[in-house]
Amino acid sequence: MRKSVVLITGASGEIGHGLIARLAEDNRRAIITLDLNPLASELAALVRQQIVGSILDTQLLDRILAEYEVDLVFHLAALLSTRCEFTPTSAHRVNVEGTMNLLEFAQKQGESHGRPVVFLYPSSIAAYGLPSLEAKVRAGRVKEDEHNHPTTMYGCNKLYCEHLGRYYARHYKQLAAVPLASKVDFRCIRFPGLISAVTIPSGGTSDYAPEMLHAAAEGKPYACFVRPDTRIPFMAMPDAVDALVQLAAAPRDALTQPVYNVGAFNPSAEEVRRIVVAAFPRAEITTEVDIKRQRIVDSWPQDVDDSAARRDWGFRPRYGLDGAFHEYLIPTISQCYR
Ligand code: SER
Repeated sequence: MRKSVVLITGASGEIGHGLIARLAEDNRRAIITLDLNPLASELAALVRQQIVGSILDTQLLDRILAEYEVDLVFHLAALLSTRCEFTPTSAHRVNVEGTMNLLEFAQKQGESHGRPVVFLYPSSIAAYGLPSLEAKVRAGRVKEDEHNHPTTMYGCNKLYCEHLGRYYARHYKQLAAVPLASKVDFRCIRFPGLISAVTIPSGGTSDYAPEMLHAAAEGKPYACFVRPDTRIPFMAMPDAVDALVQLAAAPRDALTQPVYNVGAFNPSAEEVRRIVVAAFPRAEITTEVDIKRQRIVDSWPQDVDDSAARRDWGFRPRYGLDGAFHEYLIPTISQCYR
């Protein structure tokens, strides 16, 4: 008999870090992970098996299929937005072909054990694209189906994969003689910028907020690459992890759409700087605008309308701006860099 497990791809990344700890606490299902990089030892101790390899290796995915019965997938592996602009072809390979491989994997799993595989997919505010700052201000809190004209490769990849997920869930091989859809129960969250106290992002464009904080805590100078008035939504990592776990557990019937915005707070870069400097008075934070990265952040909404997530599956972030910094980020980070 195959063993029943949850699969996390990209597990050694920022979200994976918190998610493994959280799922291990619940202790409901054994965890297997797939990542190019080995897990940190404290995380490796919490999983049944860590597989070091690529989501592009379909033979490896077939081996996992043969050995394990997976009914829940958190597909976190991706290249982030700044990195994707330098290597759009690899971005497409990892972000789109990789996701396609995992959807196909989930489909085969569902066909083989007969239950729908719940497939959690983190998308991003990068799926939006506002043409100008005026339009961004005018748009205010955007709804899931508004302004879906991303300007980045990453945003295009995420938006397309949202559609692929919906296709697998509802329309897969719709001309086949026997119905094959509904084997993948696709559930997607469009995350804002995420800020963790214990890991630093790499290759993203919302990285200025976490970088500011981590540099200050470490006593290093930091030059912020966006204007002080730049505003996009952010969320503390524990709330992002909770959202994934909560959406995974939501009753299927309660979900009225495949893709959900979630938001928590949306400070300007200057507001983040002020909070960081108040906590670390010796912080040296300057501004050196990178106009190209600025343009990307300016194309992202200043806030999101997450009323569907609140209504359908009870999303409610624990941390607002003050709580995120004063109850989670600053106390935790101060321990890390002592
Ligand atoms: N944090 C991501 C990035 O900056 C956006 O989802 O690429």
